[in-house]
Amino acid sequence: MCGIIGYIGNNNCILHLTNGLKRLEYRGYDSAGIAIINNKELKVYKEKGKLQNLINLLNEKRNEMSNSNIGIGHIRWATHGIPNEINAHPHTTNFAPIAIVHNGIIENYKELKEDLITKGAIFKSETDTEVIAHLIGYEYTQTKDLKTAVINATKQLKGAYALCIINENNPNEIIATKRFAPLIIGKGNNENIIGSDIPAIINITNKVIYLDDNETAIITKEDIKVYDSNNNIINKNIAILNIKEDNLNKDGYKHFMLKEINEQPNIIRNLINSNIVKERIKNLPTNINNIKIIACGTSLHAGIIAKYIIEDITSIPVETESASEYIYRKNTTNKNSLVIGISQSGETADTITALRQAKEKNATTIIITNREDSSICKYGDYILPINAGIEISVAATKSYTAQLITLYLLSIHLSELENKNDIKTKELKSHLNEIPNKMEQILNNTNIIENIAIKLSAYKDFIFISRGTNIGSSMEGALKLKEISYINATAYPAGELKHGPIALLDENIPLIAILIPNHITYDKLISNCQEAKARKAKLIAITSSNDETLTNLFDYIIQIPEISENVSPLITCIPLQLIAYYIANFLGKDVDQPRNLAKSVTVE
Ligand code: M6R
Repeated sequence: MCGIIGYIGNNNCILHLTNGLKRLEYRGYDSAGIAIINNKELKVYKEKGKLQNLINLLNEKRNEMSNSNIGIGHIRWATHGIPNEINAHPHTTNFAPIAIVHNGIIENYKELKEDLITKGAIFKSETDTEVIAHLIGYEYTQTKDLKTAVINATKQLKGAYALCIINENNPNEIIATKRFAPLIIGKGNNENIIGSDIPAIINITNKVIYLDDNETAIITKEDIKVYDSNNNIINKNIAILNIKEDNLNKDGYKHFMLKEINEQPNIIRNLINSNIVKERIKNLPTNINNIKIIACGTSLHAGIIAKYIIEDITSIPVETESASEYIYRKNTTNKNSLVIGISQSGETADTITALRQAKEKNATTIIITNREDSSICKYGDYILPINAGIEISVAATKSYTAQLITLYLLSIHLSELENKNDIKTKELKSHLNEIPNKMEQILNNTNIIENIAIKLSAYKDFIFISRGTNIGSSMEGALKLKEISYINATAYPAGELKHGPIALLDENIPLIAILIPNHITYDKLISNCQEAKARKAKLIAITSSNDETLTNLFDYIIQIPEISENVSPLITCIPLQLIAYYIANFLGKDVDQPRNLAKSVTVE
């Protein structure tokens, strides 16, 4: 969590730092700060709240920074210490005129702090990061060489970090290093830039060096030198990024979330037409007799749906589990397991740990991710990129459907590997081909959904129900609503309603039911809705049914195109995403940057 940036070049660094931080805002947005060296003097500026507050401060102080072509910056998602100016980064030390920015968490900061206090460190903040500043500062007093001080200091840290450090005594270099947190270095022309993620650097250069764990770089405006943990210089490849600037703009949409919802048909079309699963999953071991799907949040919901699909068309038992639970229990993963880790960002701490553990148990692993350059990929025997393009809205939408379609394609592949290319698998394939057009039918006519959403926006509690594959969709619909509108929403398999949640129902609770008529449980689900109606709940159907009797039962009906139940989650998610979006937008919420959240959850 948090985003960091560093810039060194011929130009004034302020604009580069703030532009980079703007592009990293999805990683955190509760405070921000920069440190620069201006006329040989280290200066630090920090503000609580959104990045704009910092930008306003920098505008006021413009005269103090006319000659600064080296700087580092940070956008924070608070872990240790509340979001305020003191806890905001950069952090400094009384040992040396240096400033650091940090993304990650230091687990042994308390022990280090005690020791550093005895050595004379004066602490100002409640953060774990300040320990790193003092530790590097102290090591610098011993070695007088910042790179060596950083290498020595980071050896004492337990936990995760990506760091950029500047030193008033040497205004010609930035030191960068990382372990278990992402950091890339962009190589420009007489300028270099460091960032937590590609969007932060892409407007300067598409040439990048990916720092690996325990590597430390000295970045000057002309050069980038990388050292291993023994202080030996090493050669690093320069990768060329193929990312268009357009992906990072709203393209006329009011919010990134709405733009990303509308991108889904094309992303799905491209994935269906690609051969990515077959190309990537070659020579899968034949001993696999159980599958575990491990993920968090929205990615977990995609995994919950995949269990239904894989078990339906293969003979392999599947368990789907939250990564944060999987890693702290004696699970049954073994050398015959196929463990599928799903993570949009590839940086989710729990999912990374789960996949590391799975590898330690000699399981075969597949990673489904939007970021092939992410930390989780090192634990994958096979990597399946979902190619959704950079997702900026904190609430995941396009990455969810891209994960889902990838899981469908993987299920089909597994069925074919089992020589089970039976009628069910063939039908599934042909149903998938219909998805992009059907998504477009909904997206081309969103007025009804928006009007219903506006009417629903006054309610404070929602219940989502469904059966079969759409239980995962209900969970995802409830999560989307909670995340961006802060309205309480819970999802249940409809059969569970009568076992307790029905006690909640009255005229103040809208119940959103997903009903797919060709499914075996359709009539049961209708009965559940009737039971809810008898308790005066407001009823909303998302359905492909044309049954006119539904109009008597439901207060609102959101009609979706006719669709087979097994692929319907790829369609039902669209009105669910739109309901959440339109409610949040109507209520004036910060749709793309909901409170308390950040895009990648790199802490446990
Ligand atoms: O990057 P990941 O897919 O691993 O992220 C997992 C969750 O943190 C993520 O899906 C989260 O629930 C989103 N805010 C959902 O909109």
